[in-house]
This record gives sequence, C-alpha cells and structure tokens, in this order.
Amino acid sequence: MLYVNFIAGEVPPLPPDARVNRYKVDAVVGSDLCRPGTTMQRVESGALLDAGLRGVVQHLHYTTLEERTDLTARSRTELPPSADTTAVLIPMRKTAEWWQLAQDQRGAHFHAAHTPTGAPYVETIFRKLYHARYLGSPYDFLTYFEFARASEGTFRELLAALRATPEWAYVEAEPEVWMTKLT
Ligand code: HEM
Repeated sequence: MLYVNFIAGEVPPLPPDARVNRYKVDAVVGSDLCRPGTTMQRVESGALLDAGLRGVVQHLHYTTLEERTDLTARSRTELPPSADTTAVLIPMRKTAEWWQLAQDQRGAHFHAAHTPTGAPYVETIFRKLYHARYLGSPYDFLTYFEFARASEGTFRELLAALRATPEWAYVEAEPEVWMTKLT
C-alpha cells in the first residue's frame, strides 16, 4: 500500500521509506484546515501515520482500458519543487446519495463527463488521487494537483468545467489549499 498524510504543523517520527514534500500555504478556500503562510507537508509511505489528513492510493474504479491507455500516455509527471510550482490539495466528500448509486451509475458520470472534461488538461496538470473514505477521515478523497504557476488560469478553467457537470451535485465539501512546492 502507498499511504499519504498531509500534515499542517509538526511531523511525527517518520518511517525509513517516507518520501516528504514541503509546501508553503498560499491560500485556503472554504475551510480552516490550515492558515496561509504556514507549512504543509506531504508524507508518502508504506506506513499510515496518525497525523493530519490521511489517504491511500487505490486501484482505479471507473476507468476503462481505452481511457487509461490514453491518460497514461499523455499525463505529465510531478513538477520539481520551485517558487514557480503551484500545488493544490482539494479534500472532497460526496453525499450519501452518491454512495447509494450502483457501480454502473457512478461509472457513467466518469465516462460521460469527468474523464473527457479532464483529458485535455493532463499534459499541463499533474494529478494524484488518494482515497480516504474508509480511513476514518472526514473526507472521501484527497485530490492533489501540481502545475506551473503560469497555468493557474488553466487549472481554474478545469475546476469550473468539472463543477458544471452533473457529478458535482453529489459533492458536499471540497475546500481548496493552494500552496507553493518548496521541497
Ligand atoms: C486533470 C484532469 C483530470 C482528469 C483527467 C481526471 C480523471 C479522473 C478519472 C479517470 C477518475 C476515475 C479514477 C478511477 O477509475 O477510480 C477520477 C476520479 C476522481 N477525480 Fe478526477 N480528473 C481530473 C481532474 C480532477 C479535479 C480538478 C478534481 C477535483 C476538483 C478531481 C476529482 C476527482 C475525484 C474526487 C475522483 C474520485 C471520485 C470517485 O471515485 O467518486 N479530478 N478523475
């Protein structure tokens, strides 16, 4: 398993395999998760730490072979730490109605809108999805993005396009933590 902890503030003792990134928080929208000017850390490890927001990388649930082949071929990799690298953490919780939908109903939202809406952006925007629902978290997902600062407008355009899709009627909370990737 690959676990993640997003930790605002003090980091507990880390396991030897931990991969740590450090960020300056620039802006927080819709939550008091952390404050602008403070430090956020992302710890990825085979061990789940009891700190901060917790997530885990899972298998894909709603992606066809054709979609996956296309996305994998074109998706950009993580950006290097730099004053020019923006990282955005969007923890997300979906409604009880979403979780009551059948698998094919949920999948239809991705095939019809989410995946084709996001697909044109994958060369510009790095994305990583962590699941949190069954880790005792207040969120179902921790979505994480990186892009060059100059692409902020492009990212905001993607957010607006996704928020206009029928899937977003099931989104109950999605605060935004805007950061600069320092290390
Ligand atoms: C950069 C372009 C994007 C692409 C190509 C993309 C594509 C996808 C795909 C293919 C999945 C399904 C994964 C699976 O099979 O389990 C997914 C899931 C998800 N994406 Fe995106 N996405 C993009 C941007 C975003 C953005 C900007 C957000 C948040 C505002 C977001 C939030 C999510 C969430 C929360 C899930 C999991 C939803 C669930 O399982 O119910 N995505 N995305």
